[in-house]
Amino acid sequence: MLWKSPGRHLETNRSKRYPSTPSPKSVSYSEERFPIPEKAGMNFILFCGAWLGHMALLVFILNRWYALPLPRLVLSGFRALVALSILAFPIWLWAAFGFHMTLARQSSWPAAIYLTICWIIGLGLVPGMTMIRLLRKRPHALVSNHTRIVNIARDLGYKPVGRGKYRHVARLPGNEVFQVDFAERTLFVPGLPKEWDGLTILHLSDLHLAGTPDREFYEKVMDECRAWNPDLVVLTGDFVDSDGHRRWIVPLLGRLRWRIAAFAVLGNHDYWHDPSLIRRRLRRLNIHVLGNTWKQMEVRGVPLVAIGHEGPWFRPGPDLSNCPPDVFRICLSHTPDNLGWARANNVRLMLSGHNHGGQVRFPLIGSIFVPSLYGRQYDGGLFEKPPTLLHVTRGLAGKQPLRFNCKPEVAKLVLRAATGKPDDD
Ligand SMILES: [Fe+2]
Repeated sequence: MLWKSPGRHLETNRSKRYPSTPSPKSVSYSEERFPIPEKAGMNFILFCGAWLGHMALLVFILNRWYALPLPRLVLSGFRALVALSILAFPIWLWAAFGFHMTLARQSSWPAAIYLTICWIIGLGLVPGMTMIRLLRKRPHALVSNHTRIVNIARDLGYKPVGRGKYRHVARLPGNEVFQVDFAERTLFVPGLPKEWDGLTILHLSDLHLAGTPDREFYEKVMDECRAWNPDLVVLTGDFVDSDGHRRWIVPLLGRLRWRIAAFAVLGNHDYWHDPSLIRRRLRRLNIHVLGNTWKQMEVRGVPLVAIGHEGPWFRPGPDLSNCPPDVFRICLSHTPDNLGWARANNVRLMLSGHNHGGQVRFPLIGSIFVPSLYGRQYDGGLFEKPPTLLHVTRGLAGKQPLRFNCKPEVAKLVLRAATGKPDDD
């Protein structure tokens, strides 16, 4: 109803303001719908700007809803509504105003206010924020970043599509789901004990075991990771996306090797597939499953505190009241949204996944759908938020096996106690 009355109201107002304008009854459909040519460009920009602003506003809300511990049915329903609203919006616009967007401000006040908000977002905020993201500087803490892409499908000689529920998605042309980035990043970590200079961490996240990709894909990835032979392994959640594929955890992660210790926390998708059984399988592999607790251990003769944070899905959060304050703290948190907590608790290095880099990244614009309270701010990469250095991996998979311009990632981090000269990308 909101969009039906503005159309009628608009015609009345237009007749009053422009008496020479013929009444709608005396003009053809095309004359009524299309403005005079010199205003066509402006009307086109306003039409697209309103649609973009509407889309951006709904995606902004959707991303934040997906960061909350809500039931899956609620989230799926809300996502369907958002998709419907985004597709229907231009039809509503056309039905109400045709291409006379410059006159839309004369419509009913709720419609005029909402359109103004959409224009501010679509023509101002979105281009502005995109420009700021494009001009972001490389973090000082990133000493070097070398990436090796392994095309698992080519190495196997076939696409390991498997038998998952979304296997047809994995077959889409251009889908990068089987091309894995093996990234080796050297990081300068402020406050790192000098004994740990050169310490290596394998950061692996978001396996989403559910049948697609198939088991051979993960076996190849784990074998590549084993060749790195890291000091520490950190696993930051979302191991499974189906009850039946919990049995893959032991044979797959059992291929990994480490020199000192391995740690794990669970993610929101694990929450939905009997987390106690997932924890039991991880412990069988001698992995320290931190949950919402902390553990102190010696690394190269120096104490380390490894903290797990599985909030907001698993509560209560970690209690550090008895945790030694002067020991170097690493935090594993599935979502980077716990960054504020980490900073307040003097965490020096935080490792997260969850956001998958957005999975689909558009040229110039970047990611769009990112389930975070911060939107796409921490979709992937390295972020310096003193006293915390945050590494967010794009992860290895996703519930939907779909990746465009956003390859799956496994990261080996080399920690340095003193800054080095950046070399290359
Ligand atoms: Fe995930």
